[in-house]
Amino acid sequence: MTISDGTWTALRALAYEAMERAYVPYSDFPVGAAALVDDGRTVSGCNVENAGYGVTLCAECGLVSDLVRGGGGRLVAFTCVGRRGQLLVPCGRCRQLLWEHGGPDLLVEMPGGVRPMSDVLPDAFGPEYLTREATA
Ligand code: THU
Repeated sequence: MTISDGTWTALRALAYEAMERAYVPYSDFPVGAAALVDDGRTVSGCNVENAGYGVTLCAECGLVSDLVRGGGGRLVAFTCVGRRGQLLVPCGRCRQLLWEHGGPDLLVEMPGGVRPMSDVLPDAFGPEYLTREATA
């Protein structure tokens, strides 16, 4: 699938808007994420920190909740920005979250350019392994 420049710009703007709502009293590092869904919806999220630092919710967690709460679907294009609107990369755990809901073809806007999820998380562990284990 090809994503137009205009769509990427709109996704970055939505991610920026989400970033402005981030709750980051501990890191002071706000993050906003936005994605296009295969039915044309957009979803977004911001990071929400906690006094128990490890309980912090990344922006991608909020985005995935927004996706599922809004009726589900597959993520097709994803972007993530910081305070200055600079592109960020999803952390390791969030790559796994994105894989679950976008799979190998999800397009991820990285600082170095747009890459498919299969590059961003090679040799990913996905739901098919659960089935293979169960039938082995
Ligand atoms: N963070 C995200 O929201 N997403 C990422 O993929 C990277 C890290 C947040 C978590 C924490 O609130 C702050 O950035 C600093 O790590």
